[in-house]
Amino acid sequence: MVSYKELGLVNTREMFAKAIDGGYAIPAFNFNNMEQLQAIIMAAAETKSPVILQVSKGARAYANQTLLRYMAQGAVEYAKELGWEKPQICLHLDHGDSFETCKSCVDFGFSSVMIDGSSLPYDENVALTKKVVEYAHQFDVTVEAELGVLAGVEDEVSAEESHYTKPEEVVDFVSKTGCDSLAISIGTSHGAYKFKPEQCTLDPKTGRLVPPPLAFDVLEGVEKQLPGFPIVLHGSSSVPQDEVDTINAHGGKLQAAVGIPEEQLRKAAKSAVCKINIDSDSRLAMTAAIRRVFDEKPAEFDPRKYLGPARDNMKKLYIHKIVNVLGSDGKAE
Ligand code: G3H
Ligand code: 13P
Ligand code: ZN
Repeated sequence: MVSYKELGLVNTREMFAKAIDGGYAIPAFNFNNMEQLQAIIMAAAETKSPVILQVSKGARAYANQTLLRYMAQGAVEYAKELGWEKPQICLHLDHGDSFETCKSCVDFGFSSVMIDGSSLPYDENVALTKKVVEYAHQFDVTVEAELGVLAGVEDEVSAEESHYTKPEEVVDFVSKTGCDSLAISIGTSHGAYKFKPEQCTLDPKTGRLVPPPLAFDVLEGVEKQLPGFPIVLHGSSSVPQDEVDTINAHGGKLQAAVGIPEEQLRKAAKSAVCKINIDSDSRLAMTAAIRRVFDEKPAEFDPRKYLGPARDNMKKLYIHKIVNVLGSDGKAE
């Protein structure tokens, strides 16, 4: 048993309380490798933004949970080296799919876990979430739960259609489970293809697809039921079109990739939404930079020569999100 407190990590409780009061959101960035982690820490340290490092089931399988945990521990020390005296870094399990997975993360030094029972019948979601909360709270680890189903592929749970969260269920769910934050479904989804072209309109000026707006009425309904309670948005990548263009200009083939417009995320960040999950945008930034080097410098074979630019591009993206979208800069001085 390792406590996250010994590793210099923090849970989400105070971060979220301050974010709701201050009208901003905490960035939750997924990481699978060293370059992503370095870019996240450099961006957070430079902007003095609290940050949530997210580890998915896929990341645990790809990079090994033990290694990822030590990397997160190293990240705290690295942040201090970068001049961030009191780093506020949370290590969070993204989309935990069972009690055992959540327990293993709690026991192993994670400061926050998500139990994703959103694909289960309501009562089973309540029972599973409650079990995780009872375990995690013994060690002051915070728990994110989910109600409502996002469209697209949610790890191994596939949802053809999104089912928006029902505001009338949230009070019962939160009081029965004791969860610390709640992920809701208001029209976001995972990945770089969030909307089908037929769901979008065409901007005649740019020729780009414009997606339908998020269901802010559902968010407002949830906020009315649970005033001041921390709300989480998954699937919040914006799919920057310049990165998509760079990828396509250098041999990639991403057609009709569409994300959530940043102005909608800005609006959400000012509400009770206090955690915004971003993974796909970082993947796009990394891939765009690597493709460019491979295309422009075909003789290059030192990985540092393409992973370095990839890291720089991700850092730029993370700083942009923190400063221009979530507004979390300067909140962890
Ligand atoms: O929720 C999905 C995250 O983007 C993690 O994706 O399962 O491919 O690591 P992953
Ligand atoms: P994106 O695919 O939109 O980046 O969402 C990531 C996410 O929700 C991780 O849990
Ligand atoms: Zn997610």
